[in-house]
Amino acid sequence: MKRNVNRVAIIGTGFVGSSYAYALVNQAIVEEVVLIDMNREKAEGEAMDLNHGKLYSHSPTQVWQGEYSDCKDADIVCITAGVSQSEEVTRLTVVEKNTKIVKAIVEQVMNSGFNGIFLIASNPVDIITYATWKFSGLPKERVIGSGTMLDTARYLFMLGEYFNVDSRNINGYIIGEHGDSQIAALSTATIGGKSIIDIVNSNRKYSIEDLEEIAVNVRDAANHVAIRKGATYYGIGMCLARLTKAIFKNENVILPVSAYLDGEYGFNDVYVGVPAVINRQGLRNIVEMNLNMDEKEKLTTSVTILKNTMEPVID
Ligand code: 2OP
Repeated sequence: MKRNVNRVAIIGTGFVGSSYAYALVNQAIVEEVVLIDMNREKAEGEAMDLNHGKLYSHSPTQVWQGEYSDCKDADIVCITAGVSQSEEVTRLTVVEKNTKIVKAIVEQVMNSGFNGIFLIASNPVDIITYATWKFSGLPKERVIGSGTMLDTARYLFMLGEYFNVDSRNINGYIIGEHGDSQIAALSTATIGGKSIIDIVNSNRKYSIEDLEEIAVNVRDAANHVAIRKGATYYGIGMCLARLTKAIFKNENVILPVSAYLDGEYGFNDVYVGVPAVINRQGLRNIVEMNLNMDEKEKLTTSVTILKNTMEPVID
């Protein structure tokens, strides 16, 4: 029988998992949050800390340290566990370790009888999302990675600063690998419905070179933050909360998630960051933007890197 409360189970209560839980509680997005970690004491401490502050967040969210059996009644299971990029050189270098970790996690989640939606944040997120889809056997629409949501948020923040416009009035996406081969799809980006390229070409105070520098800063943003505070977690936590809200509110909103391509953009059998419509069933459909030749070539490079990295670790 369908329960009338929404439950999110978070696997991994490190910085990312606990930041995601904090965002869920403060935005009152869900009725139940279960924190699962092999370090039970850590998960229990996170639950206690969140419960202690709930009075002032007017949040109804019930938070507790739980077990994999709690995933049975979860609508969403989010996997954040794994070796962080800060301990290795790039997101891709942790792929073997994190694939092994996630395989064990997915098996335990599925053994609980879970039949909901997986959200993946563990890096390299496109490959770990693919692995979760493979290991779980769930339909591709119900296995979604955070993809380039955070990259896109960084991009729109920096573009908003550059053009002195609220980021909510900028429509644009970072696509491809959540990593060094990501692509700023500038040819499709608009402010108030006007092409950003046209805006730049019609005003000498702006330049394409500046926008290219912004795209580089977006690509390297995680490192820029990590060298200052050790790791990134608030941004990704808010992305996961946004994705969760889109699902529970059945929003049919377009978000740049890591999605399984089944012919879209000319690619198959790969998870990669692209705009997709998100609703209560998970991923409804992928949005195929009209990329220019340069963007198409870069997306091909990005997909190739992901496939070559994935090939040795996921059979
Ligand atoms: C980020 O982009 C580390 O993937 C994480 O902040």
